[in-house]
Amino acid sequence: MRRPLIAGNWKMYNNVSETLVFFDNFIKLVENLEGVEVAIFPPFTSLWEAAKKTAGTKIKIGAQNVHWEEKGAFTGEISPNMLKEIPCEYVIIGHSERRQYFAESDETVNKKVRAVLKHGIKPVICVGENLKEREENLTLKVVLPQVRKALADVELLSGEEIVFAYEPIWAIGTGKVATPEDAQEVIKNIRKEIETLYNKNIAENVRILYGGSVKPDNIKALMQERDIDGVLVGGASVDPQSFYKICAYKEQGVE
Ligand code: PGA
Repeated sequence: MRRPLIAGNWKMYNNVSETLVFFDNFIKLVENLEGVEVAIFPPFTSLWEAAKKTAGTKIKIGAQNVHWEEKGAFTGEISPNMLKEIPCEYVIIGHSERRQYFAESDETVNKKVRAVLKHGIKPVICVGENLKEREENLTLKVVLPQVRKALADVELLSGEEIVFAYEPIWAIGTGKVATPEDAQEVIKNIRKEIETLYNKNIAENVRILYGGSVKPDNIKALMQERDIDGVLVGGASVDPQSFYKICAYKEQGVE
C-alpha cells in the first residue's frame, strides 16, 4: 500500500531563525504520529539547519527547486548533488509558481526529473490547470501531457522513486479547494496515464498528492478518496500547529 505523504511547501517563508523555532514546536507535535510520512520543503538557506534539526526524527526534508546540471557556470542555481549532501530526500519540480514566474517548462521539468533520479532524490512533480482551462473543460488535456512530458525518457523501477502533485492553479493560495471528487477524478486519470506509460504495478506504487488550499478542516475528506495519497500544503504548513493538524488527519477519524 502507498504510504500517505503530507508535504509542507514553505515557499519564500521562514528564514533560518524562524525555521529553528518552527522545528522546536513541530518535532514535539509529530513525534508520535504513525502511518504517515511528513516532509518539509524550506527555502534553500534553511535546508541545512532544517536537516540537522530533524536528523533522527521522522521528518523528511526536501528542496523547492533544483538545476539539472552537476556543476558549472549557472549563477544562482543549486545542483542535485548539493541537495544530496544536505541530505534532501525530496525536491519539488515544476511548481506552478515556477512555471508562471520563472519560465519553467515541461522540458526543464523533464531534465530536472532525470537529473535528480540519478542521485536518488525523489522528485515531487507538480502539474495542474488554470481557471480558464478548468472552465473550458480542458483539465485532462492540460494535465496529462504535463505528466507525459515530465516522464519522457524516465526509467522507473518501482514507481516509488517519484511523486506527483496535482495542484489546480486556481486553488493555490486562493482558499478555493477542489472538491475531493474532482481531485480524485484527475488523480485517477494521472494514475491511468502512468499505467499506459509503464505498467499497472508501477502506476499503483506512484504516490499522487493533491495541493491547493489544503487546511485542517478539508484534509479529512480529501484523504478519503482512493487515489489521493497525500497533500502538498503551502500557506497552512508555515505554522506548526496548523500543519500538525493536517498531518494528524487520521486522528480525526479517517482511516
Ligand atoms: P496553498 O499552496 O496550500 O497555499 O494553496 C499549495 C502549493 O502551492 O503547493
